[in-house]
Amino acid sequence: MARHLITSAIPYINGIKHLGNLVGSQLPADLYARYLRARGNEVMFLCATDEHGTPAELAAAKAGKPVADYCAEMWAVQAELAKGFRLSFDHFGRSSSPQNHKLTQHFAGRLADAGLIREVSEKQVYSHADKRFLPDRYIEGTCPNCGYDKARGDQCENCTKQLDPTDLIDPRSAISGSTDLEVRETKHLYLRQSQMRGKLQDWIDSKTDWPILTTSIAKKWLNDGDGLQDRGITRDLDWGIPVKKGEEDWPGMEGKVFYVWFDAPIEYIACAGEWAEAHGKSDADWERWWRTDKGADDVRYTQFMGKDNVPFHTLSFPATILGSGEPWKLVDYIKSFNYLNYDGGQFSTSQGRGVFMDQALEILPADYWRWWLLSHAPESSDSEFTWENFQSSVNKDLADVLGNFASRVTKFCRSKFGEEVPAGGTPGEREAQLIDDLEKGLRDYEAHMDAIDVRKSALALRALWVLGNEYLQDVAPWTTFKEDPDAAAMQIRIALNLIRFYAVISSPFIPDASAQLLTAMKSEDAEWPKDVASAVKALPVGHAFAVPEVTFRKISDDERAEWQERFAGGRR
Ligand code: MF3
Ligand code: ZN
Repeated sequence: MARHLITSAIPYINGIKHLGNLVGSQLPADLYARYLRARGNEVMFLCATDEHGTPAELAAAKAGKPVADYCAEMWAVQAELAKGFRLSFDHFGRSSSPQNHKLTQHFAGRLADAGLIREVSEKQVYSHADKRFLPDRYIEGTCPNCGYDKARGDQCENCTKQLDPTDLIDPRSAISGSTDLEVRETKHLYLRQSQMRGKLQDWIDSKTDWPILTTSIAKKWLNDGDGLQDRGITRDLDWGIPVKKGEEDWPGMEGKVFYVWFDAPIEYIACAGEWAEAHGKSDADWERWWRTDKGADDVRYTQFMGKDNVPFHTLSFPATILGSGEPWKLVDYIKSFNYLNYDGGQFSTSQGRGVFMDQALEILPADYWRWWLLSHAPESSDSEFTWENFQSSVNKDLADVLGNFASRVTKFCRSKFGEEVPAGGTPGEREAQLIDDLEKGLRDYEAHMDAIDVRKSALALRALWVLGNEYLQDVAPWTTFKEDPDAAAMQIRIALNLIRFYAVISSPFIPDASAQLLTAMKSEDAEWPKDVASAVKALPVGHAFAVPEVTFRKISDDERAEWQERFAGGRR
C-alpha cells in the first residue's frame, strides 16, 4: 500500500477536447488512478481547466461573452464530459481559482527573492483606442512576404512566415480595428531558468527509469534546444493572474498578468487546495500530498501528458519549484504520449476535424471509446483512429470475447441449472491448467499496469478474457451436459466465477461494464484478486445471479459508414 499523487495535463478552456487530447493525458491517467485504487493504494488524482492566455480571451470574444463567464461555462461543460467518460478525478479544478492566484503570486515572490527574476524593458505596441498593450497575435496587418491582408503579429497564416508586429504593413488592433497604435517601452519579468541548468541536469539524469519519449525530449531541450533560455513570464492581458510579489504590488507591473504557462502547472498544486476546500478539509490535508516537510516525502507523483507538454514539465515547472527553495514535491515519473491521428490526417480543434468528446458520447457509451483509445494509445509512436479499426476492436474484443462470454455462460446456466451458482463435480486437470494460465496472465497484466505500459496492459487483459473463452470452447459444457451434468455444472461454476473475476480486473479500462457485470453476479466483492485459485471460488454454490443485459453491442457496417461520413466534413 502506498500513496500516489497523479495529475493529468490540464486541458485548455477554449472548447471541447477531441479524442486525441483525451488519450494523450486524462484517460491514461484515469486508467492508472483506477488501477492503483483497486489495488488498495491511497490516490489523489487531480485535473483542472487551463483558463488563461490569449486563446481563452479570443474564444470568449468569439462567443460574445465576458471571459470570466465563458470560462465558468466551459469548465462546467468539460467537467460534465469528464464525468461522461468516467474520469475519476478527486477534484477537477480551475487555474483561475483564488488558490492558484495566491500560489502563483507566492512562487513569483520566492523566485524574485532568490534572484531568479529579472526585469526587462521591451518595445511593445500600445493601442490608444483599446487603452492597452497588444500581444503579438492581437495585431493584424498585411504580410510583407505574401501580401495576405489578415496576417497576425506573430505569424502569417497564409504563408506561415514568422513575423514581428513591426513587420506588418498597415498594422491595426485585432480587438477594435484601430490603427492608432504606438510603439512604447514596457517592462516584463523574465525567469532566469538558465541559472538552474546544473540542478535540472542532475535531476533529469537521476531519472533513469523514465520512458524514452520523455527523457529524449527533456534532454534535447536541455542540451541543444533553447529550452533553458530565460523566459518571459508576464503578459499584457486583462484576463489572468495579476503580477504580484507574494501579496505585495510589483512596481512597474501594473495591469500585467502572469504568462499562462507560468501559472498552469502551479494549478496542479492549487487544485489540491481547491479539493480541500470543496471537501471541508484543512490545509494539512492537501499539504500532505505536496509538501515534503508535511508528509509528502512518501508520495509517488506521476504526471501524464502529450509530448508537446514535456519541456514545460521537465524544465520550466521544475525550475519554478526548485527555484522557490521550498520543499514542494517534484514529479517522480512522467508518462508522455505521441499523437493520435484521425483517419489519414490529424485531429484538429481549429478545423473541427475528428471526433470530439461530446460527439463520441452521443454515439456510444464511454467504455467503447475507453477500450479502443487505451488499447491503441500512441505510446511508442503516433497511432491512428480509423472507423474500421474501431468497429473491429469493439466487435471482436468487447462484444465477441468479453460480452459474449458473460452472456453465454449466464444464459446456459439459467436454462439448465437456474439462476444460482450450481453445485457439481470437482475440478480436474483442465481446470488446473486454466487456473495456472490465468495466474501467469494476471501477473503479466499487473506488471504492465505497474509500469504504465498502456497498450501492453490492454493486450494482457484481453489475453485473460481469451483464456476463459478457450476454456469454454474446450470443455463445451453444453455438450458435457448431455452425458455428465455434474461435470457441466462444475465447468459453469468456474465460468460464472470468471465473469466476476473479469469484472474486477477490467474495471480500470471499462468501469461501467465492470459495474454491470458485478451487479449481474450480485457481488459486492470488487477486491483485487490475490490469486486466481481463490478468485474462481469467490461465488459459492447457491449464490444467486442474473443474466446481464447486453454488455457490449456490435457496431454494424451501416453505422460505421454513417459515422465515417458524418465526421469527415469537420465540426460546424
Ligand atoms: N493546457 C495545456 C495543453 O493542453 C497543458 C497545460 S499542463 C500544465 O497543452 F502543466 F500547464 F498544467
Ligand atoms: Zn504571408
